[in-house]
Amino acid sequence: MTMPDGADARQGAEAAAHEWQRVPPVRGQGGQPAFFSCWDIHAYYGESYIVQGVSFDIREGEIVALLGRNGAGKTSTLRTIARLDSPRLTHGEIWLDHKPLHEMKAFQAARCGVALVPEDRRIIPGLTVEENLKLAQIAPPHGWSLERIYELFPRLGERRQQEGTTLSGGEQQMLAVARALARDVKLLLLDEPYEGLAPVIVREIERTLEEIKKLGITTVLVEQNAIAALNLADRAIILDMGQVAFDGTAQEVLDNAELRQEYLAL
Ligand SMILES: Nc1ncnc2c1ncn2[C@@H]1O[C@H](COP(=O)(O)OP(=O)(O)OP(=O)(O)O)[C@@H](O)[C@H]1O
Ligand SMILES: [Mg+2]
Repeated sequence: MTMPDGADARQGAEAAAHEWQRVPPVRGQGGQPAFFSCWDIHAYYGESYIVQGVSFDIREGEIVALLGRNGAGKTSTLRTIARLDSPRLTHGEIWLDHKPLHEMKAFQAARCGVALVPEDRRIIPGLTVEENLKLAQIAPPHGWSLERIYELFPRLGERRQQEGTTLSGGEQQMLAVARALARDVKLLLLDEPYEGLAPVIVREIERTLEEIKKLGITTVLVEQNAIAALNLADRAIILDMGQVAFDGTAQEVLDNAELRQEYLAL
């Protein structure tokens, strides 16, 4: 596979991302715009009104657990932030590092550093592990080198010539995260990374996410396994029927059995 890896292509992408650069409105305290902020976002699947006025901020390097019962709107919120076509954003603003994601399409948001790792992982059939990673690097801006990725995920290094779809569930999850790191990720959106994995594999993914946390990658983690997510996260946002029901520290949710019972059925 050949990669368009020239300085021209990189400069082109930097210029394209730079065009979006603006000063977002300041809504938080302290007079500084947040690194990431969504403000009163509303989104629909067809006629179905699902994301109903969600607002929250994230500081750079923070890990936020986005929690809530089945159907609360977690996946829909991630998809709205990543600017996928559905659900359709009808109102509100989304800012990442001074760039207005709400004005963008998915490919432009991706170029500005948004990486969504969906629940089904979307490993590309017919490609090896390494080809899956190289494909992620096909257009600038590039993130991590293959060497650095294999250092964090030695298992992927060992299986670099194996077809991606023949990996185990846990390895496919690692590949999905690795693919996001292969791009220049500024906001990592993980939808249920522990889904369907055995506890021992969950531990392994958790260790990887702890490494990612140390690297200061700003992350939104959606998880059914709320306790595991809260143990990793700095902050927690709980959604209920497409609205924010709680926004506070992860510790507050761990300490508050009533809150967990009401919104997480834990
Ligand atoms: N493509 C779609 N078309 C219409 N409605 C949808 C679509 N996808 C999801 N919904 C509805 O939107 C609501 C929120 O769904 P969403 O998948 O965002 O919830 P979730 O919090 O991720 O749930 P889960 O924990 O089950 O993954 C649900 O009522 C769901 O039925
Ligand atoms: Mg979901």
